[in-house]
Amino acid sequence: MQNQAASAPQPVVSLALDSPDLALAYERTSDPQFKHGQILVKALNIGPGEQVLDLGAGTGRLGAYVAELVGPAGQVIAIDPLPLRVDIAQAKAKPNLEARVGRAEDLSQFASDEFDVVYLNSVFHWIADKPRALREIFRVLKPGGRLGLNSADPHRLHQFRRHVAEIFNEQGIDAPANATIPVDQQELQALLSAAGFVHVETRHHTLVDFHPDVDSLIAWSRSSSFGNSLASLSNIQQTQLRDVLAQRLEPFRTPDGLRLERYLIFATARRPAVAGASG
Ligand SMILES: C[S@@+](CC[C@H](N)C(=O)[O-])C[C@H]1O[C@@H](n2cnc3c(N)ncnc32)[C@H](O)[C@@H]1O
Repeated sequence: MQNQAASAPQPVVSLALDSPDLALAYERTSDPQFKHGQILVKALNIGPGEQVLDLGAGTGRLGAYVAELVGPAGQVIAIDPLPLRVDIAQAKAKPNLEARVGRAEDLSQFASDEFDVVYLNSVFHWIADKPRALREIFRVLKPGGRLGLNSADPHRLHQFRRHVAEIFNEQGIDAPANATIPVDQQELQALLSAAGFVHVETRHHTLVDFHPDVDSLIAWSRSSSFGNSLASLSNIQQTQLRDVLAQRLEPFRTPDGLRLERYLIFATARRPAVAGASG
């Protein structure tokens, strides 16, 4: 492979790489995120009448599912910084579901003490200023309100990312920077506690996906990362990587497709019911 990745940029998440095609592809291919989103939502025990903020909602698939759980007396507000994805989410709007542009670090469009539940599904590892985002989430949650999130594990890369990194390593090429900014379980617990959350519980999950082929796997990764995955590679490098990856992942082929594992850290926590209380 051509060694052009040596000058790869530092990890910076760009919100400018999204496109109509990537946004539509995410709506079509995000079954993996939808499935682990359902696990997250179950842990939060969301019920009828609750006010819920879906933070980093993408195209709104999970938000629409949660709108069914809160029913007509509840409300889900789904926000995301990518306007193209918000448009797709807003096409699902109904009286108890609304999508807006917004980001975790600035929730000034919401009053304090507004939500029973805030969740971030596959979003936390994209946020650069995590303490600021958690301060904002704490503020908009009602006292006693629940937070749920899941986040990539820096110590256990998605099998796709691990193989990509190994291919670069074997060829003596600096891997392009991984745009995500993951924290490990200890760091996550410390961040949540420092922001004032209580009843902090974290746990590891291994998730298994079946991708039809290597092209759909790469397309899923690009749409999930709104264009950040492997963004610094030239077209020639991308083609070469695809071909090497296709060979390398052949042993993972099953009758259901390429079987690959992902690893996420799930966390739930609460804002204390009374100011200054510890539980
Ligand atoms: C993998 S998608 C997950 C989308 C959705 N939560 C789902 O379950 O399908 C990651 C989302 O995080 C959003 N995101 C990135 N940075 C963010 C930030 N600072 N605040 C809120 N959302 C952010 C992206 O725009 C993108 O839609």
